[in-house]
Amino acid sequence: MIAPSVLSFDHSDLKSTVLELVKAGANLIHLDVMDGQFVPPITIGDGVAAGLASIGGLFLEAHLMTLTPERHFEAFAAAGCQRIIFHVEATAHAHRLAQTLRSMGIQPGIAINPATPASAVHEVLEVVDEVLVMTVNPGWGGQSFIESTLEKVRQIRSWNPNVLIEVDGGIDDQTLPRAKEAGANLFVVGSSLTKGPSVGDVFRRLSELCG
Ligand code: DX5
Ligand code: ZN
Repeated sequence: MIAPSVLSFDHSDLKSTVLELVKAGANLIHLDVMDGQFVPPITIGDGVAAGLASIGGLFLEAHLMTLTPERHFEAFAAAGCQRIIFHVEATAHAHRLAQTLRSMGIQPGIAINPATPASAVHEVLEVVDEVLVMTVNPGWGGQSFIESTLEKVRQIRSWNPNVLIEVDGGIDDQTLPRAKEAGANLFVVGSSLTKGPSVGDVFRRLSELCG
């Protein structure tokens, strides 16, 4: 399944891009939340999430690239996000934070940077719905896929056949099939969506590759 990221679009007009994606069949949207601390850029807050939630019928996942991610759980849950993904590098208490999200009725996801070994998420696989494997360094769209991250996907899949594995960064028609073969089943797509005749066309083409 494709998880379109709105990071690469005109942020003053996100709703119209999301509506275009919905028309092409998208029902999941990936929101990249950056705090200027965990990663250098600052992007969007819960207000944007609430605005997109008002479209209705969408599954929204917030990818928190923030320090102290737990400070933002309530706001993004109240905004209508159904899944909240925080970084294992951003907390000493990933297991407890995943439990906190679960108790709020939110699907917990754990994200892992390219420099962090897969073993960092091994002990939380039983309490999360999803592992987001960063296939670029977090902070910016449009970077090149880092090959060595595929081995991490393979390793996590060998430990758990059921957990959702989402890959994020540098996903296009070349890298998607390879990430899929390694065991990923959710594919964040950002800048690739801007490189076709239309956002909807690229979304449909990449969706076909997901099978
Ligand atoms: C990067 C973000 C990604 C980003 C991916 O820090 O987490 O979700 O939007 O963009 P592309 O697909 O351009 O690599
Ligand atoms: Zn992301």
